[in-house]
Amino acid sequence: ELGPYSHFMQKEIHEQPKALSDTIDAVLGAGFSPAVFGDDSGRLAAAEGVKILACGTSYYAGLTAKYWIEAIAGLPCSVEVASEYRYRDAYVNPAHLIVTLSQSGETLDTMEALKRARELGHRTALSICNVSESAIPRASDLVFYTRAGAEIGVASTKAFTTQLVALFTLAITLGKQRGRVDAEAEAGYLEALRYLPGSVQHALNLEPQISSWAQAFASKQHALFLGRGVHYPIALEGALKLKEITYIHAEAYPAGELKHGPLALVDSDMPVVVIAPKDTLLEKVKSNMQEVRARGGELFVFADLDSQFSDSDCVHVIRTPRHVGILSPIVHTIPVQLLAYHVALAKGTDVDKPRNLAKSVTVE
Ligand code: M6R
Repeated sequence: ELGPYSHFMQKEIHEQPKALSDTIDAVLGAGFSPAVFGDDSGRLAAAEGVKILACGTSYYAGLTAKYWIEAIAGLPCSVEVASEYRYRDAYVNPAHLIVTLSQSGETLDTMEALKRARELGHRTALSICNVSESAIPRASDLVFYTRAGAEIGVASTKAFTTQLVALFTLAITLGKQRGRVDAEAEAGYLEALRYLPGSVQHALNLEPQISSWAQAFASKQHALFLGRGVHYPIALEGALKLKEITYIHAEAYPAGELKHGPLALVDSDMPVVVIAPKDTLLEKVKSNMQEVRARGGELFVFADLDSQFSDSDCVHVIRTPRHVGILSPIVHTIPVQLLAYHVALAKGTDVDKPRNLAKSVTVE
């Protein structure tokens, strides 16, 4: 069942080009139309905003999507941890589309958050889910099934990146309906999707380089992950993967927040992972990196080919593929998954079944 791989997590990380192209095929066939989400009655067109509810890694997919939905569709988007939302009197606009994200479709808190949204009066709920006929899609009006295939490792990997494809598609579909995405822009987005599995494969090929960093982390108690903009949620996801399977305490911050507290933690015992592709925020990220270096922090940088970093004593750089533009957060997910996996191997922890955790969290 594992083929050439040692663990389900490793196998599932490597299945991502296929999982992504299968999910993208579902989109390309229907061309960013509401039908992709099972909508034939104008429900998406009626959305005045989007509220995303999810837990764990799925929540981070939601945080990434907020950047796309606001920029591409021009709609307000809020993202909330399901276990918080379900117990509070949240602001309600009944025309705000509820989007639940759940790999398993069975997460209790997400299900209860969906029920709460209904009670509060939200009219339409879309489920993005990887398991057909599970509880959350059954309780939703609209459904998009990611085509990641069964995910067995407790650490979610291919479910996350395929959720991102679904959410990117949602942003474009809403943007088209609102007249914000013209034919030329749509063609550009389609092209970006077509190239995505190849760029992800290129990132997977970095595995030997990434595994050479593992020892430097395995002996540490803490790690800090930094990103900015749409890569900040990917830093969060990298920190979660590391905590979950290596038991190293990891935190993620938007790099601009360093000076507001976490910089006090930085010393030579705190490896700092930076996601630094060549986007509009790169210069800002570089100055945040200087702040870390000035405190003796050791930097481990994922930079794409265009971002012109060079290795030096305490600055280690791995180059991800040429900058892929708007889908860059998906490509940059791969190295942080592989880093967590190889640190876990170096530490000898149980990669597929980390202590205290379950694949599907059906209790509160
Ligand atoms: O099945 P779900 O997507 O609803 O699960 C949500 C979280 O429990 C899940 O993403 C969890 O955080 C993973 N173990 C992270 O790798």
